[in-house]
Amino acid sequence: MAPIPYPLAIKAPESLETPAVLVDGQILQANIAAMQKVARHAALNLRPHIKTHKSITIARQQLNAGAVGITASKVDEALVFIEAQLPSVTLAYPQLVAAKLDRLLTAAGRYGCDLRLIVDSPEGVALLAARAAALGLRPGVFIKIDVGLHRCGCRPDDPLVFSLAQTIHGADHLDFRGLLSHAGQAYGAADAAAAGHMAQSEREIMTTLAASLRKAGCEVPEVSVGSTPTVLATREFEGLTEIRPGNYVFMDQTPLRLGLITPRQIALSVLTTVVSTNAHYAIVDAGAKTLSSDRGAHGTTGIEGYGVAFGLGDPTDPPEPLTVAKLSEEHGFIIPGAVRLKPGDRLQIFPNHACPVVNLARELVVVDGASMDVWAVDAAGCVR
Ligand SMILES: Cc1ncc(COP(=O)(O)O)c(C=O)c1O
Repeated sequence: MAPIPYPLAIKAPESLETPAVLVDGQILQANIAAMQKVARHAALNLRPHIKTHKSITIARQQLNAGAVGITASKVDEALVFIEAQLPSVTLAYPQLVAAKLDRLLTAAGRYGCDLRLIVDSPEGVALLAARAAALGLRPGVFIKIDVGLHRCGCRPDDPLVFSLAQTIHGADHLDFRGLLSHAGQAYGAADAAAAGHMAQSEREIMTTLAASLRKAGCEVPEVSVGSTPTVLATREFEGLTEIRPGNYVFMDQTPLRLGLITPRQIALSVLTTVVSTNAHYAIVDAGAKTLSSDRGAHGTTGIEGYGVAFGLGDPTDPPEPLTVAKLSEEHGFIIPGAVRLKPGDRLQIFPNHACPVVNLARELVVVDGASMDVWAVDAAGCVR
């Protein structure tokens, strides 16, 4: 395990019951400001992906800092933010179910939200055009491009991109906004330099394709890219109009492993209590239902176990990082270190992947210096 020199200096009150998902409010604010600065310097729009925090409070803070709107994954997740009257929502997930689209479009119409969707198939365009026409709305539409993750998206060299763009342009109820990509393969990069190369490859693919479409007479107002590792690993954004990182608000073991951040930039952790000990492990009250079983997204390697733990009573300086070796649903198995853990001791665990941890929680305990606040995870469990 890569040694982590210091954990968060969180002073969670003794009365706080565990397991609790903690957010260091100062680090959160610093992360929001730092990403906005990246966008401002590169003259890019920032449309943060809110699947990381699922919190209306944090989304509003991102908008107050200068974000132009938000990105969401799922319809019911997006609805939470549309109903909270956020002005602009991009749903970066193909929609192929009429009832879900109707729910979304109707809410966007009712709340005056600038709704933007993605497509990567003729079926997706046809359904979206039909539902938008039926409801008398004109959502923004992006063609999703596969820049190497091989999840959703058209291959950049597929003539389908041109025919979809033409169809969208020709549809009265669709507003063609441009191209959108997500180089999620960067989570599995070997190091920061490799993530930087992936960011540059994505930029080249997207700007070349946008230029070809423009040459063919098709207006391409926006070129939207984004993931936390690729945005942090590059300084070159020429030809792009927008970034959509999500994880950056909390950060976790992936950007840390890639060498893109220091531990002091990780805002999210889980407070947990030792409930039992045996010859092999200290057992804590945070299991897979709190930490998730995530070993890191998209081929992440080099992450051991399910998080890095620190004993809050550990007198050593710096405190010793401990591995969360195994999980059952409600129990975590900590490999004890030099300092003996005993029942009742508290640990702070930095999970591998912050986003699924938040989705499993109902609330975030936000600690800011001496003050503590509880914020709802408004869209927890919204996966439809
Ligand atoms: C389409 C899309 N855009 C943006 C993001 C944000 O990426 P990250 O959380 O690494 O910042 C994601 C993450 O899954 C995504 O799927």
